[in-house]
Amino acid sequence: MRILFIGDVVGNVGVSMLTDYLGKLKQEYKPQVTIANGENSTPMGRGINLVAYKKIMSAGVDVVTLGNHAWSNRDINDFIDSEKRLIRPFNFPGKNVPGKGYTIINVNGVKLAILNFQGRVFMDNLDDPFSLCEQLIGELKDADCVFVDFHAEATSEKLAFAKYLDGKVSAVVGTHTHVQTNDARILPGGTGFLTDAGMTGPADGMLGMQDDTVIQRFLDQRPARYSVKEDGRGVISGCVIDVDDTTGHAKKIKPVNLFDNEV
Ligand SMILES: [Fe+2]
Repeated sequence: MRILFIGDVVGNVGVSMLTDYLGKLKQEYKPQVTIANGENSTPMGRGINLVAYKKIMSAGVDVVTLGNHAWSNRDINDFIDSEKRLIRPFNFPGKNVPGKGYTIINVNGVKLAILNFQGRVFMDNLDDPFSLCEQLIGELKDADCVFVDFHAEATSEKLAFAKYLDGKVSAVVGTHTHVQTNDARILPGGTGFLTDAGMTGPADGMLGMQDDTVIQRFLDQRPARYSVKEDGRGVISGCVIDVDDTTGHAKKIKPVNLFDNEV
């Protein structure tokens, strides 16, 4: 199967990019399944709300993953349990965390498990993603292919996570930094890996936000309220992964980018 993964959808611009251009991207790459990280898709760029989630799904996304901003918009508690194609990082501690950290969907008769985990380096202290992911994969014996969105900050943690799972999952793709990395590759055991898929939204700001408040924060070390950049170019960033349905291993992985001024 061919998986199209879309990096962090930021604000109204990110959602509109999917509404306006995901069809074109899918025409070009012809994926059987499309997954997007939606943890920054509210108009403020923090968390997800039901309107943004529905627009992302209507644009042609099959499953939405989240990350450290999963709970930033509290409305999520009203719909995460009923939306089976919306998943949050698996490794939040505690037994009563709403939602779930993985889902299994049928892609033309092939069972694809989609997992969401969060890293711990320079991030909140969630439960150990390495051992929990390994344990979960062991329990998902039905799945033919396994895709993991690893929402993490540090490149070292992302690569270590992918190498730890090499051969046990089809792909590990990183999210969270909003900067697409240039290291897409197949690891020796057959796991496709990309450190970060990049961002879907305003291409010319500060990781999706307006420049001035972010720069000001570096200058005076005071907290600042960021706003999503609404003008300039829009981009859809992500990657395409070809997976052998029989072995569950990746055959090919490559980054993709679509800028609205180049369409
Ligand atoms: Fe994040």
